[in-house]
Amino acid sequence: MKTLKPSFPHRHLLGIEGLSPLDINYLLDLADQQVGVSRQIEKKKNTLSGRTQINLFFEPSTRTQSSFEIAGKRLGADVMNMSVASSSVKKGETLIDTAATLNAMRPDLIVVRHQSAGAVHLLARKVDCSVINAGDGAHEHPTQALLDALTIRRNKGQLQGLTVAICGDILHSRVARSNMLLLGAMGARVRLIGPTTLMPPGIEKFGFEIFTDMRKGLRSVDIVMMLRLQLERMSGSFIPSVSEYFRYYGLDAEKLSFAKEDALVMHPGPMNRGVEISSEVADGPQSLICEQVEMGVAVRMAVLEALATHLPNG
Ligand code: CP
Repeated sequence: MKTLKPSFPHRHLLGIEGLSPLDINYLLDLADQQVGVSRQIEKKKNTLSGRTQINLFFEPSTRTQSSFEIAGKRLGADVMNMSVASSSVKKGETLIDTAATLNAMRPDLIVVRHQSAGAVHLLARKVDCSVINAGDGAHEHPTQALLDALTIRRNKGQLQGLTVAICGDILHSRVARSNMLLLGAMGARVRLIGPTTLMPPGIEKFGFEIFTDMRKGLRSVDIVMMLRLQLERMSGSFIPSVSEYFRYYGLDAEKLSFAKEDALVMHPGPMNRGVEISSEVADGPQSLICEQVEMGVAVRMAVLEALATHLPNG
């Protein structure tokens, strides 16, 4: 296995915004190597031996939190999971005070998910260690976009020149935003498909192709990326009803037949079957959904390893 020369010039990973194509390729190459490591019987490395990683999640998570825990442990870190439900946040402690308290315990890395866009940037300014954004409001989810890119690259060879359709609730999705930034930077064509009520106002100015008709939008695409309706971020009525939504924007075999014959289907999870995707497609031969989860561990190991070079004595 070729040893990659450390070349990640950032102390934090707060978003895809601010990363160059070189940075992205470095993380994807490093993650590609971790796929091999995590499939070996001897799984543990010692890159983060003696380091403390805190996973601080203010919102629920299955995939991101557990894969960051597995990634940290595979690299030898002491990993602490902090559940907000059983923390002093419930007694009214502010994010800044929580940050100062954790900082006083001298962690090396904090992985944060927060319901407010920009909260992770604020926290990064208040602590001395490296901070990783595990999802902030509807803003960014950089490790999700990286694991999606790695999954695509391993299946299609490259990102450049592919047409990727991102479908559904674009307005409230941090996954969509990070993917739009990453795919655009890496030379893929991005189409956005969804009802007008779920499109960010003015998004057409950024050069994406926008479709409200799913069958038209899916024509000849290489990758179909489905999104969950982020009901927790919706105040008011954005869709007439779930069954109506599925009829127009749910991915089933009939709508998928408009994409290329070898098109692949992705979903960041958690999925709502029968709302944005049918079980037939989610569990079908074109689905990469389980592979995305596997790549999540590899990508998070790569990110932790890249940031480790900026830790004192790293
Ligand atoms: N994709 C994703 O962020 O999933 P979790 O909410 O389960 O972490």
